[in-house]
Amino acid sequence: MISAVLICLLKNIPIICTGASSYSITVKKYVCIDTPYKESTLYVCKNIPRRNAPTMIQVLIHVPKLYDIILVKVSLFYKFSTYQPFLITVNRDACESIRNPPQFGIEKHVYDIVQETVPELLAPCPSGNRTYNITWYLQDRHAPKNIPAGDYKLQVKLQALPDVPVFGMDVYCSVRSTGIVSKFMLQ
Ligand SMILES: *[C@@H]1O[C@H](CO)[C@@H](O)[C@H](O)[C@H]1NC(C)=O
Ligand SMILES: *[C@@H]1O[C@H](CO)[C@@H](O)[C@H](O)[C@H]1NC(C)=O
Repeated sequence: MISAVLICLLKNIPIICTGASSYSITVKKYVCIDTPYKESTLYVCKNIPRRNAPTMIQVLIHVPKLYDIILVKVSLFYKFSTYQPFLITVNRDACESIRNPPQFGIEKHVYDIVQETVPELLAPCPSGNRTYNITWYLQDRHAPKNIPAGDYKLQVKLQALPDVPVFGMDVYCSVRSTGIVSKFMLQ
């Protein structure tokens, strides 16, 4: 635990690392949305529960065409009585981000998560003309820092132009603060 915090401090990546120690995320379910897609074929979208480990999602999707521009939209919703837009919205051309990785802010945070967990998605554009078989799960340290505890919906949408949904997913999860970092800092 402490060594993880130290490594983070040394590497100067506070967003990811602070998140690592101060939040615990429990995923209730992953849901593929906007199906069926106009051009992609979704063969598998399933939750894989694991004993003593976070639930994963497996997606097997064929993307037949090649795209030069893929808009990626990441939105976070906080559940009050209904899910309300909250804090994070990324709306960006993924191909441009692959050519010029973002250096700051939430865009960098999202890029770093993708680079660490599904690097195959960062192959230079045009993207597509292949089948993607991806198994993934949302990790505690993916939480941005300083978010309130509660129930969230994280939505990820990939869209080709002009209006072709390539893939979409909702992640329903709850975030609990564990506050380990601040205790550590006080010692
Ligand atoms: C799509 O992929 C196949 C095999 O992977 C390749 O032969 C073909 O040239 C590709 N099509 C385009 C348009 O790149
Ligand atoms: C996709 O990946 C899963 C897990 O790695 C594997 O069990 C499955 O056979 C793969 N499916 C295809 C069609 O490659």
